[in-house]
Amino acid sequence: MSERMEQVLSEARSAIESAASLDGLNAVRIQFLGKKGSIQSLMAEMKNLPREEKPAFGQKVNDLKNEVSRRIEEKQAELAKEAEKARMAGEKIDITLPGDNLEIGTIHPLIMIQQQLEDLFLGMGYTVAEGPEVEQDHYNFELANIPKDHPARDMQDTFYIDPNTLLRTHTTAMQMRELEKANGKLPIKLICPGKVYRRDDDDATHSHQFMQCEGLVVGEHITLADLKGTLEYMASAMFGKGRKVRFRPSYFPFTEPSVEVDVSCPFCNGKGCSVCKHTGWIEILGAGMVHPHVLEMNGFDPKKCSGFAFGVGLERVAMLKYGIDDIRNFYMNDLRFLKTFDRFD
Ligand code: DAH
Repeated sequence: MSERMEQVLSEARSAIESAASLDGLNAVRIQFLGKKGSIQSLMAEMKNLPREEKPAFGQKVNDLKNEVSRRIEEKQAELAKEAEKARMAGEKIDITLPGDNLEIGTIHPLIMIQQQLEDLFLGMGYTVAEGPEVEQDHYNFELANIPKDHPARDMQDTFYIDPNTLLRTHTTAMQMRELEKANGKLPIKLICPGKVYRRDDDDATHSHQFMQCEGLVVGEHITLADLKGTLEYMASAMFGKGRKVRFRPSYFPFTEPSVEVDVSCPFCNGKGCSVCKHTGWIEILGAGMVHPHVLEMNGFDPKKCSGFAFGVGLERVAMLKYGIDDIRNFYMNDLRFLKTFDRFD
Protein backbone atom coordinates (compact mmCIF):
# COMPACT_ATOMS: atom_id res chain seq x y z
CA MET A 1 0.00 0.00 0.00
CA SER A 2 1.37 3.37 -0.88
CA GLU A 3 2.29 5.81 1.79
CA ARG A 4 -0.63 7.98 0.77
CA MET A 5 -3.02 5.05 1.19
CA GLU A 6 -1.53 4.18 4.57
CA GLN A 7 -2.13 7.75 5.62
CA VAL A 8 -5.76 7.74 4.44
CA LEU A 9 -6.36 4.44 6.26
CA SER A 10 -4.94 5.69 9.54
CA GLU A 11 -6.87 8.98 9.27
CA ALA A 12 -10.04 7.03 8.56
CA ARG A 13 -9.42 4.66 11.48
CA SER A 14 -9.03 7.40 14.01
CA ALA A 15 -11.95 9.40 12.59
CA ILE A 16 -14.16 6.30 12.81
CA GLU A 17 -12.89 5.50 16.27
CA SER A 18 -13.66 8.91 17.63
CA ALA A 19 -17.11 9.31 16.00
CA ALA A 20 -19.46 9.79 18.95
CA SER A 21 -22.79 9.55 17.17
CA LEU A 22 -24.43 8.09 14.09
CA ASP A 23 -24.57 11.55 12.56
CA GLY A 24 -20.87 12.05 13.26
CA LEU A 25 -20.09 8.67 11.68
CA ASN A 26 -22.09 9.57 8.61
CA ALA A 27 -19.95 12.69 8.21
CA VAL A 28 -16.86 10.44 8.36
CA ARG A 29 -18.35 8.17 5.69
CA ILE A 30 -18.86 11.14 3.38
CA GLN A 31 -15.36 12.42 4.13
CA PHE A 32 -13.74 9.14 3.08
CA LEU A 33 -16.18 7.24 0.89
CA GLY A 34 -18.20 10.07 -0.65
CA LYS A 35 -17.98 11.15 -4.30
CA LYS A 36 -15.57 13.87 -3.34
CA GLY A 37 -14.01 11.84 -0.52
CA SER A 38 -10.35 10.93 0.00
CA ILE A 39 -10.66 7.42 -1.42
CA GLN A 40 -12.37 8.63 -4.57
CA SER A 41 -9.59 11.15 -5.08
CA LEU A 42 -7.05 8.30 -4.77
CA MET A 43 -8.95 6.52 -7.55
CA ALA A 44 -8.63 9.64 -9.66
CA GLU A 45 -4.89 9.34 -9.42
CA MET A 46 -5.02 6.06 -11.32
CA LYS A 47 -5.24 7.80 -14.66
CA ASN A 48 -1.72 9.20 -14.13
CA LEU A 49 -0.16 5.75 -13.64
CA PRO A 50 1.46 3.60 -16.27
CA ARG A 51 -0.92 1.03 -17.70
CA GLU A 52 0.72 -2.04 -16.03
CA GLU A 53 0.51 -0.53 -12.58
CA LYS A 54 -3.14 0.32 -12.88
CA PRO A 55 -4.67 -3.08 -11.91
CA ALA A 56 -2.55 -3.46 -8.77
CA PHE A 57 -3.22 0.12 -7.75
CA GLY A 58 -6.93 -0.28 -8.36
CA GLN A 59 -6.97 -3.46 -6.30
CA LYS A 60 -5.26 -1.69 -3.41
CA VAL A 61 -7.66 1.26 -3.46
CA ASN A 62 -10.55 -1.21 -3.51
CA ASP A 63 -9.08 -3.07 -0.54
CA LEU A 64 -8.74 0.24 1.26
CA LYS A 65 -12.32 1.16 0.41
CA ASN A 66 -13.58 -2.20 1.69
CA GLU A 67 -11.53 -1.93 4.84
CA VAL A 68 -12.91 1.57 5.61
CA SER A 69 -16.48 0.46 4.79
CA ARG A 70 -16.19 -2.53 7.09
CA ARG A 71 -14.88 -0.42 9.94
CA ILE A 72 -17.66 2.12 9.44
CA GLU A 73 -20.27 -0.61 9.48
CA GLU A 74 -18.85 -2.08 12.67
CA LYS A 75 -18.81 1.30 14.31
CA GLN A 76 -22.31 1.99 13.10
CA ALA A 77 -23.60 -1.21 14.71
CA GLU A 78 -21.83 -0.28 17.92
CA LEU A 79 -23.23 3.27 17.96
CA ALA A 80 -26.75 2.04 17.11
CA LYS A 81 -26.59 -0.38 20.02
CA GLU A 82 -25.48 2.37 22.38
CA ALA A 83 -28.21 4.71 21.15
CA GLU A 84 -30.80 1.98 21.71
CA LYS A 85 -29.43 1.35 25.18
CA ALA A 86 -29.63 5.06 26.03
CA ARG A 87 -33.19 5.24 24.69
CA MET A 88 -34.23 2.24 26.78
CA ALA A 89 -32.64 3.74 29.88
CA GLY A 90 -34.59 6.95 29.30
CA GLU A 91 -37.85 5.08 28.93
CA LYS A 92 -37.35 2.79 31.87
CA ILE A 93 -40.40 2.54 34.15
CA ASP A 94 -39.77 1.73 37.75
CA ILE A 95 -42.66 -0.58 38.45
CA THR A 96 -41.72 -0.73 42.12
CA LEU A 97 -42.52 3.00 42.59
CA PRO A 98 -45.71 3.45 44.61
CA GLY A 99 -48.53 4.85 42.44
CA ASP A 100 -50.36 8.12 43.00
CA ASN A 101 -53.37 7.54 45.23
CA LEU A 102 -56.71 8.63 43.82
CA GLU A 103 -58.74 10.35 46.50
CA ILE A 104 -62.08 8.60 46.77
CA GLY A 105 -64.81 10.32 48.74
CA THR A 106 -67.08 8.67 51.26
CA ILE A 107 -70.79 9.13 51.66
CA HIS A 108 -71.55 11.77 54.28
CA PRO A 109 -72.97 10.17 57.45
CA LEU A 110 -76.15 12.26 57.23
CA ILE A 111 -76.72 11.18 53.65
CA MET A 112 -76.11 7.61 54.78
CA ILE A 113 -78.88 7.93 57.36
CA GLN A 114 -81.14 9.61 54.79
CA GLN A 115 -80.58 6.75 52.33
CA GLN A 116 -81.23 4.13 54.99
CA LEU A 117 -84.51 5.81 55.91
CA GLU A 118 -85.50 6.14 52.26
CA ASP A 119 -84.80 2.44 51.62
CA LEU A 120 -86.72 1.49 54.71
CA PHE A 121 -89.83 3.51 53.90
CA LEU A 122 -89.78 2.81 50.17
CA GLY A 123 -89.91 -0.84 51.22
CA MET A 124 -93.13 -0.09 53.11
CA GLY A 125 -94.73 1.54 50.08
CA TYR A 126 -93.99 5.18 50.92
CA THR A 127 -92.89 7.73 48.34
CA VAL A 128 -90.10 10.24 48.89
CA ALA A 129 -91.01 13.92 48.51
CA GLU A 130 -88.67 16.86 48.12
CA GLY A 131 -89.30 20.55 48.44
CA PRO A 132 -87.84 24.04 48.79
CA GLU A 133 -85.60 25.15 51.63
CA VAL A 134 -86.60 28.76 51.02
CA GLU A 135 -90.22 28.46 52.06
CA GLN A 136 -93.33 30.57 52.43
CA ASP A 137 -94.65 31.42 55.87
CA HIS A 138 -97.91 29.91 54.63
CA TYR A 139 -96.55 26.33 54.45
CA ASN A 140 -94.03 26.51 57.26
CA PHE A 141 -96.49 28.03 59.77
CA GLU A 142 -100.02 28.96 58.64
CA LEU A 143 -101.13 25.60 57.23
CA ALA A 144 -99.36 23.85 60.11
CA ASN A 145 -101.82 25.51 62.46
CA ILE A 146 -99.27 28.07 63.67
CA PRO A 147 -100.87 31.46 62.83
CA LYS A 148 -99.04 34.75 63.30
CA ASP A 149 -98.56 35.63 66.99
CA HIS A 150 -99.01 31.98 67.96
CA PRO A 151 -96.56 31.32 70.85
CA ALA A 152 -95.34 28.17 69.05
CA ARG A 153 -93.51 30.43 66.59
CA ASP A 154 -91.12 31.26 69.41
CA MET A 155 -90.17 27.57 69.64
CA GLN A 156 -88.58 27.86 66.24
CA ASP A 157 -86.31 30.87 65.87
CA THR A 158 -86.69 31.61 62.22
CA PHE A 159 -84.42 33.09 59.54
CA TYR A 160 -86.77 35.45 57.69
CA ILE A 161 -85.96 36.65 54.19
CA ASP A 162 -89.01 38.93 54.11
CA PRO A 163 -92.20 38.85 56.24
CA ASN A 164 -93.62 36.02 54.10
CA THR A 165 -90.48 34.16 53.09
CA LEU A 166 -88.16 32.20 55.34
CA LEU A 167 -85.73 29.31 55.55
CA ARG A 168 -87.94 26.40 56.51
CA THR A 169 -87.61 25.57 60.20
CA HIS A 170 -88.95 22.04 59.82
CA THR A 171 -89.81 19.55 57.09
CA THR A 172 -93.40 19.79 58.35
CA ALA A 173 -93.69 22.53 55.71
CA MET A 174 -93.47 19.76 53.14
CA GLN A 175 -96.21 17.86 54.93
CA MET A 176 -98.47 20.86 54.25
CA ARG A 177 -97.41 21.16 50.61
CA GLU A 178 -98.11 17.47 50.02
CA LEU A 179 -101.47 17.60 51.80
CA GLU A 180 -102.46 20.59 49.69
CA LYS A 181 -101.20 18.91 46.50
CA ALA A 182 -103.20 15.71 47.22
CA ASN A 183 -106.32 17.86 46.97
CA GLY A 184 -108.41 15.59 49.19
CA LYS A 185 -107.27 12.38 47.49
CA LEU A 186 -106.40 9.41 49.72
CA PRO A 187 -104.26 7.65 50.71
CA ILE A 188 -101.11 9.68 51.36
CA LYS A 189 -97.99 7.83 52.42
CA LEU A 190 -94.72 9.69 52.15
CA ILE A 191 -91.52 10.77 53.78
CA CYS A 192 -89.65 13.98 53.13
CA PRO A 193 -85.99 14.24 54.12
CA GLY A 194 -84.21 17.58 53.86
CA LYS A 195 -82.32 20.49 55.36
CA VAL A 196 -83.91 22.87 57.83
CA TYR A 197 -82.64 26.03 59.51
CA ARG A 198 -83.04 27.78 62.86
CA ARG A 199 -81.44 30.78 64.49
CA ASP A 200 -79.62 28.72 67.09
CA ASP A 201 -76.17 29.37 68.51
CA ASP A 202 -74.05 26.43 67.40
CA ASP A 203 -72.74 24.19 70.15
CA ALA A 204 -72.27 20.45 70.68
CA THR A 205 -76.01 19.75 70.36
CA HIS A 206 -77.28 22.71 68.31
CA SER A 207 -76.65 23.72 64.73
CA HIS A 208 -78.29 26.53 62.77
CA GLN A 209 -78.57 24.08 59.87
CA PHE A 210 -79.61 20.49 60.39
CA MET A 211 -81.59 17.73 58.71
CA GLN A 212 -84.97 16.19 59.36
CA CYS A 213 -87.08 13.50 57.84
CA GLU A 214 -90.82 14.02 57.91
CA GLY A 215 -93.27 11.15 57.70
CA LEU A 216 -96.95 11.46 56.79
CA VAL A 217 -99.68 8.88 56.39
CA VAL A 218 -103.30 9.88 55.79
CA GLY A 219 -106.10 7.42 55.04
CA GLU A 220 -109.17 5.79 56.50
CA HIS A 221 -108.87 4.42 60.04
CA ILE A 222 -105.27 5.42 60.61
CA THR A 223 -104.58 5.28 64.34
CA LEU A 224 -101.90 5.97 66.92
CA ALA A 225 -101.24 2.21 66.95
CA ASP A 226 -100.22 2.40 63.27
CA LEU A 227 -97.81 5.18 64.20
CA LYS A 228 -96.35 3.16 67.03
CA GLY A 229 -95.88 0.03 64.92
CA THR A 230 -94.25 2.04 62.14
CA LEU A 231 -91.85 3.79 64.51
CA GLU A 232 -90.97 0.54 66.27
CA TYR A 233 -90.10 -0.97 62.90
CA MET A 234 -88.02 2.07 62.03
CA ALA A 235 -86.20 2.08 65.40
CA SER A 236 -85.33 -1.60 65.08
CA ALA A 237 -84.05 -1.13 61.53
CA MET A 238 -81.93 1.88 62.49
CA PHE A 239 -80.65 0.86 65.92
CA GLY A 240 -80.79 -2.92 65.99
CA LYS A 241 -83.44 -5.60 66.38
CA GLY A 242 -85.89 -5.57 69.25
CA ARG A 243 -86.02 -1.81 69.94
CA LYS A 244 -89.10 -0.77 71.88
CA VAL A 245 -90.81 2.55 71.44
CA ARG A 246 -92.50 4.61 74.14
CA PHE A 247 -94.82 7.61 73.72
CA ARG A 248 -94.83 10.55 76.10
CA PRO A 249 -97.54 13.21 75.80
CA SER A 250 -96.31 16.41 74.22
CA TYR A 251 -97.54 19.37 72.25
CA PHE A 252 -97.21 20.35 68.59
CA PRO A 253 -99.74 22.69 66.98
CA PHE A 254 -100.11 20.48 63.93
CA THR A 255 -100.86 17.20 65.76
CA GLU A 256 -103.49 16.12 68.26
CA PRO A 257 -102.61 14.18 70.29
CA SER A 258 -98.88 14.91 70.09
CA VAL A 259 -96.14 12.69 71.46
CA GLU A 260 -92.42 12.67 72.09
CA VAL A 261 -91.07 9.31 71.10
CA ASP A 262 -88.38 7.46 73.06
CA VAL A 263 -86.59 4.34 71.87
CA SER A 264 -85.25 1.74 74.28
CA CYS A 265 -81.53 2.46 74.67
CA PRO A 266 -79.56 0.49 72.07
CA PHE A 267 -76.38 0.73 74.17
CA CYS A 268 -77.64 -1.00 77.34
CA ASN A 269 -80.75 -2.60 75.91
CA GLY A 270 -82.90 -0.59 78.29
CA LYS A 271 -81.03 -1.49 81.48
CA GLY A 272 -79.67 2.01 82.02
CA CYS A 273 -76.28 3.47 81.08
CA SER A 274 -74.55 6.84 80.77
CA VAL A 275 -75.86 7.40 77.21
CA CYS A 276 -79.51 7.09 78.27
CA LYS A 277 -78.76 8.82 81.60
CA HIS A 278 -79.77 5.60 83.37
CA THR A 279 -83.37 5.83 82.21
CA GLY A 280 -83.18 3.02 79.64
CA TRP A 281 -84.81 5.33 77.05
CA ILE A 282 -83.55 7.84 74.50
CA GLU A 283 -85.73 10.52 72.94
CA ILE A 284 -85.52 10.44 69.16
CA LEU A 285 -88.43 12.27 67.60
CA GLY A 286 -91.74 14.13 67.73
CA ALA A 287 -94.94 12.73 66.29
CA GLY A 288 -98.71 12.65 66.57
CA MET A 289 -102.04 12.35 64.81
CA VAL A 290 -102.49 15.02 62.16
CA HIS A 291 -104.60 17.79 63.74
CA PRO A 292 -108.19 17.81 62.39
CA HIS A 293 -107.86 21.52 61.72
CA VAL A 294 -104.75 20.88 59.60
CA LEU A 295 -106.66 18.26 57.61
CA GLU A 296 -109.53 20.67 57.16
CA MET A 297 -107.35 23.61 56.11
CA ASN A 298 -105.80 21.35 53.45
CA GLY A 299 -109.12 20.15 52.05
CA PHE A 300 -109.69 16.87 53.89
CA ASP A 301 -112.72 15.89 55.93
CA PRO A 302 -111.43 14.83 59.39
CA LYS A 303 -114.62 12.81 59.92
CA LYS A 304 -113.76 10.61 56.96
CA CYS A 305 -110.01 10.26 57.35
CA SER A 306 -107.18 10.50 59.82
CA GLY A 307 -103.44 10.50 59.68
CA PHE A 308 -100.22 10.27 61.62
CA ALA A 309 -97.06 12.28 61.18
CA PHE A 310 -93.59 12.33 62.62
CA GLY A 311 -90.43 14.36 62.28
CA VAL A 312 -87.04 12.85 63.08
CA GLY A 313 -83.70 14.67 63.29
CA LEU A 314 -81.10 12.93 61.15
CA GLU A 315 -78.17 14.25 63.18
CA ARG A 316 -79.69 12.80 66.32
CA VAL A 317 -80.06 9.38 64.66
CA ALA A 318 -76.51 9.50 63.26
CA MET A 319 -75.05 10.63 66.59
CA LEU A 320 -76.70 7.75 68.42
CA LYS A 321 -75.98 5.20 65.76
CA TYR A 322 -72.32 6.07 65.23
CA GLY A 323 -71.43 7.40 68.68
CA ILE A 324 -70.77 11.00 67.62
CA ASP A 325 -70.82 13.48 70.49
CA ASP A 326 -70.70 16.85 68.72
CA ILE A 327 -73.21 17.88 66.04
CA ARG A 328 -70.71 20.37 64.57
CA ASN A 329 -68.68 17.41 63.25
CA PHE A 330 -71.25 16.99 60.49
CA TYR A 331 -70.62 20.47 59.15
CA MET A 332 -66.87 21.03 59.63
CA ASN A 333 -65.82 18.96 56.60
CA ASP A 334 -62.89 17.52 58.50
CA LEU A 335 -61.62 14.67 56.33
CA ARG A 336 -60.37 12.75 59.38
CA PHE A 337 -63.97 12.58 60.59
CA LEU A 338 -65.60 11.97 57.22
CA LYS A 339 -63.19 9.20 56.21
CA THR A 340 -64.10 7.10 59.22
CA PHE A 341 -67.43 6.40 57.54
CA ASP A 342 -66.00 4.44 54.61
CA ARG A 343 -66.32 1.31 56.75
CA PHE A 344 -70.11 1.58 56.98
CA ASP A 345 -72.43 0.51 54.23
N1 DAH B 1 -91.77 19.71 63.18
C1 DAH B 1 -91.36 19.25 64.48
C2 DAH B 1 -90.05 19.91 64.86
O1 DAH B 1 -89.36 20.35 64.02
C3 DAH B 1 -91.18 17.78 64.49
C4 DAH B 1 -92.48 17.06 64.33
C5 DAH B 1 -93.26 16.76 65.40
C6 DAH B 1 -92.92 16.72 63.08
C7 DAH B 1 -94.47 16.12 65.30
C8 DAH B 1 -94.15 16.07 62.92
C9 DAH B 1 -94.90 15.78 64.05
O2 DAH B 1 -94.61 15.71 61.77
O3 DAH B 1 -96.09 15.12 63.89
O4 DAH B 1 -89.74 19.96 66.02
